[in-house]
Amino acid sequence: MKKKITLICLSIFLCTATFAQKKETPLYKDAKQPIEKRVDDLLSRMTLEEKVMQLNQFTLGRNDNANNMADPVNDIPAEIGSLIYFSSNPDLRNQVQKKAMEKSRLGIPVLFGYDVIHGYRTVYPISLAQACSWNPELVKQACAVAAQEARMSGVDWTFSPMIDVARDGRWGRVSEGYGEDPYTNAVFGVASVQGYQGDDLSDGKKVAACLKHYIGYGASEAGRDYVYTEISRQTLWDTYMPPYEAGVKAGAVTLMSSFNDINGTPGTANHYILTEILKERWQHDGFVVSDWGAIQQLRSQGVAKDKKEAAMKAFNAGVEMDMMNQCYDNHLAELVKEGKVSEELLNDAVKRVLRVKFRLGLFETPYTPASKEKERFLLPQSLKIAEQLAEESVVMLKNNNNALPLTGVSKVAVVGPMAKSNWHLLGSWRAQGKAEDAVTVFAGLENEFKNKIQLLYAQGCDFDGEDKSGFDEALTAAKSADAVIVCLGEKAQWSGENASRSTLSLPQIQEDLVTELKKAGKPVILLLSSGRPLELTRLEKLSNAMLQIWQPGIAGGNPIAGILSGRINPSGKLSITFPYATGQIPIYYNHRQSARTHQGKYQDIPSTPLYEFGYGLSYTTFEYSDIKLSAHKVKRGDKLIAEVTVKNTGNMDGAEVVHWFVRDPVSTISRPVKELKHFEKQMIKKGETKTFSFEVDLIQDFGFIDGEGKRFLESGEYYVLVKDKKVMVEVE
Ligand code: NOJ
Repeated sequence: MKKKITLICLSIFLCTATFAQKKETPLYKDAKQPIEKRVDDLLSRMTLEEKVMQLNQFTLGRNDNANNMADPVNDIPAEIGSLIYFSSNPDLRNQVQKKAMEKSRLGIPVLFGYDVIHGYRTVYPISLAQACSWNPELVKQACAVAAQEARMSGVDWTFSPMIDVARDGRWGRVSEGYGEDPYTNAVFGVASVQGYQGDDLSDGKKVAACLKHYIGYGASEAGRDYVYTEISRQTLWDTYMPPYEAGVKAGAVTLMSSFNDINGTPGTANHYILTEILKERWQHDGFVVSDWGAIQQLRSQGVAKDKKEAAMKAFNAGVEMDMMNQCYDNHLAELVKEGKVSEELLNDAVKRVLRVKFRLGLFETPYTPASKEKERFLLPQSLKIAEQLAEESVVMLKNNNNALPLTGVSKVAVVGPMAKSNWHLLGSWRAQGKAEDAVTVFAGLENEFKNKIQLLYAQGCDFDGEDKSGFDEALTAAKSADAVIVCLGEKAQWSGENASRSTLSLPQIQEDLVTELKKAGKPVILLLSSGRPLELTRLEKLSNAMLQIWQPGIAGGNPIAGILSGRINPSGKLSITFPYATGQIPIYYNHRQSARTHQGKYQDIPSTPLYEFGYGLSYTTFEYSDIKLSAHKVKRGDKLIAEVTVKNTGNMDGAEVVHWFVRDPVSTISRPVKELKHFEKQMIKKGETKTFSFEVDLIQDFGFIDGEGKRFLESGEYYVLVKDKKVMVEVE
């Protein structure tokens, strides 16, 4: 009997407890509720201090990026909003997350971010190279691989893509974006956002994207990093905004504010850009994170006297999260109490951060499930994508007398500092990439030519310095071979952040090595690996063929060797102009028209670049038809379709990229000599003809944008251009 009573009491207690618990489960913890309701509910429960903590980002784990050294954060507050996560193992994340979930009053999960720029462990080519593939679908797939590897390792958010239009190769960060053209940056930016975020951020294999560096960082004076930029409002809208507008429309949930001072107001304190455009005009409902230290740097930029004023300026301008400044955690609450920051703005900022956390599903799945490295890294399908992207990024710059592919040769000398380097092929921002994962050029050649061609190797010289003691050995190898492959280029750390260079030339020793090898009288094939466009004017004269291989990531060796052997037909085309000389910078294809086209040339060098935007050779030949238009006279609202056919007239199957440009010769605001508006890549078998088409959006493609961001379409003549073909359209 006693037993029975105890049991009844126990079940009554349990029922009441469950009922009470159910009743008390706060709405924000109920996954069935709409996100906005959950955000509002959670916000209503937060104290001022808890709100402020959500707006800070510290670091966690090992950080070996010399530019971003910070004190290790050992004692992470349970209420912290976000952490940059340097470890590749979810354990540490999960420990800190446990603290946040269990030790903080409201159990708000931490958001873990990281620089996953061109791959996480499966490192694929740098972004500048990716754009040379003109294959956004492939880039999307590569970003999906990066997202899967990162998310399964404890990273929820990547600080990528960088979509800063960059026209100065001296700027080290030119490697991180998609080149000199606004449209190209927009298309590849969108592709990467789609790859990273997919349709459902909470599916465990996706990460939040971050468009950076908002905005105009690529315009840094003379290619020096972190410096002033002078950007007129019209240029801002015309050149720098389009990739961001496209990225926001594609659903990127975050943006990063830029380091650069824009006409006197740094990107990180710029209300017009961060609030008026992004939040009010584009209705972005995610958040903006500052770049590392960008808020406190408002002091060195001369617009804030101390960290408190810097916090106030950045926050009021529209930067919601403080990345490693210790400005918001120390001063924001005080600024609110003093009325210098409104509570309304604070609430809005917190809501933006929480919204992203809810979308990522962090409240339901705060912990990263344990998995073995081999379950998440370097999967066969991931490597295939990396290899394909490396292949399609290679640009053949020169091929005199069909020096390539290598046929009828039995012995090849492989020379140069890049030949056996795996480290430098990965470029900057390699995330968790490992040099030992990379297939070197030499290893690729060994795989490709096994038992067919004998390979001789001599390094010749280092990347820089003056030691020519290896030249003799290299020349001997070249003399006894049928052809010489010279692997030159830049060390990985010569590009990326804080890696500006005064010249695009390779160090003299590398040019001297080629001059020496030339003495052997054998065909000289140059493989050029770099994180920027190069000045190749002298090297070009010394070579028979040149392949720009960029920094191809871990899977470059085999496809590069495949191009040399002729197994693969190169199809990459430049996403950035290669100047004739560094002194031509800034030089880019979509420049404005000159007042005197017959004059104003350089007196000492040609005024044209060595290799223009869109340039790239193939082993086959393509013949273009004239451009056909669906109408030659159109009015607003009409549909206009342009078409060309391209015939593969050579002896090898090959992919061709058709770039569609427009030109508006007379306009209220002068327009560039031509502007890319569409591109398409298709595989064309030998003898086959393919049709390429461009559906012109009259307002978007023919129209122009003014300094207020308004788009106009004027009546008059316009041109559609493809290669050397052009056709006129009249808009009524
Ligand atoms: C500084 C860089 O400018 C930015 O691109 C990067 O995402 C952050 N540091 C975080 O590492």
